[in-house]
Amino acid sequence: MSERANFGSKVGVVLATAGSAVGLGNVWRFPFMAGHNGGAVFMLVYLGCILLLGIPGMVSEFIVGRHSQANAARAYGTLTNRKGWGFIGLLGILTSTIILGFYSVVAGWCLQYLGTSAVGGLKGDSTYVQQYFQNFSSDPVKPALLGVAFVFITHIIVVRGVRNGIEKASKLLMPLLFILLLIIVIASCSLPNASEGIEFLLKPDFSKVSNKMFLEALGQAFFSLSLGTACLCTYASYYSRQTHLLQSAAQIALVDFLIALMAGLMIFPAAFSVGVQPDSGPSLIFITLPRVFQQAFSFLPALGYVISLMFYALLVFAALTSTISMHEIGTAFFHEELKMKRPVAAWIETIVCSLIAVFCSLSVGNPDIQVMGMPLMDFCDHLTAQYMLPAGALLTSILVGWFASKTLVREEFTNWETNGPKSLFGVYLFCVRFIVPVCIFLILMHQFGVI
Ligand code: PFF
Repeated sequence: MSERANFGSKVGVVLATAGSAVGLGNVWRFPFMAGHNGGAVFMLVYLGCILLLGIPGMVSEFIVGRHSQANAARAYGTLTNRKGWGFIGLLGILTSTIILGFYSVVAGWCLQYLGTSAVGGLKGDSTYVQQYFQNFSSDPVKPALLGVAFVFITHIIVVRGVRNGIEKASKLLMPLLFILLLIIVIASCSLPNASEGIEFLLKPDFSKVSNKMFLEALGQAFFSLSLGTACLCTYASYYSRQTHLLQSAAQIALVDFLIALMAGLMIFPAAFSVGVQPDSGPSLIFITLPRVFQQAFSFLPALGYVISLMFYALLVFAALTSTISMHEIGTAFFHEELKMKRPVAAWIETIVCSLIAVFCSLSVGNPDIQVMGMPLMDFCDHLTAQYMLPAGALLTSILVGWFASKTLVREEFTNWETNGPKSLFGVYLFCVRFIVPVCIFLILMHQFGVI
């Protein structure tokens, strides 16, 4: 990949960045987060986080990346003459490396489910499907190997040069994912008792509001938008001067939200219909969905087979466009900053992530690999989504809002007073200076029990 070349088209910019945003976060993480946080109230807070904090946060990362045209560690240092801000980029690189580690394990589970559904091995009653997942995920060898295999697949693409690949693949796969989700949503919503699930997701019950829900919704919004890891900054370093930053951020956030909403409408009606509680945590889509495919298409099992196969294939691709973006952050850093050859840089990222993946995978079902009372896998998820991502986004907004030159920020926002939305610059700056830092700070303090 010629490193500082641009994405080829406007649609490509949005779809490639949306490819990073849309992934397991939407289809795997969102449903179980919403499931154990009361459904619709979580949705509302989540939507609020996207609009108020997510979109301005995305634009800020875009500004840092496009202005610097550099890897994350250097990018943050180019916005001001004051030294030290580059550490936000380093924090992002660390965060994305940890996420890539545990994310690959879940992506490996998807690979397994793809293979098993191909040979028709997911058929059976609820107990069978539940048992299948438990046995497989707590196996010490296979899921770890599949997780590492996923990091390697990512490695191969990143090393060969991904931009064209990601852009082209995203243009094809994103619409396909959307269409397929739509089919499954329709199937799921037409199951008996589906309305209970729709209500659970769309009719807020305010008695379910809890303290931790705000932090979890914030973490989910950032995780899903790939915000706070310097991922958006790295991708924006490949944007052209014509890319409309606010419009792109809004479009990506909209696509990302719609896919999460559809994932919810796919899971909850089906879960309620087959009598599975939607609060079962990370295993939700691996236990509920196979049953849905069987039941919804019992009138034509061949169709159920094809849909299930396509679904897991698309999940793998959606995960891949996200893992590529995470891998690219570290690879670009090792290559440009530490002057390593690109393949060597990619290998270092791959080895570190593979190690994290192995330990995360082993921690599932093994009480010895725990950190602060939770399996390492859950700990990595919790630490990154709820602390590291908000911290990254908080620091970015302080840098862009308070320390970078206002002229520079305005020029980037308005594309040098050409096609950028000049009239919204004041609103954006207000959000970045006050709303984003204050809200994130309050939510974090609340979590620490300070307020
Ligand atoms: N946004 C991705 C998802 O929802 O699956 C996950 C992700 C990608 C997080 C890239 C962080 C990142 F840097």
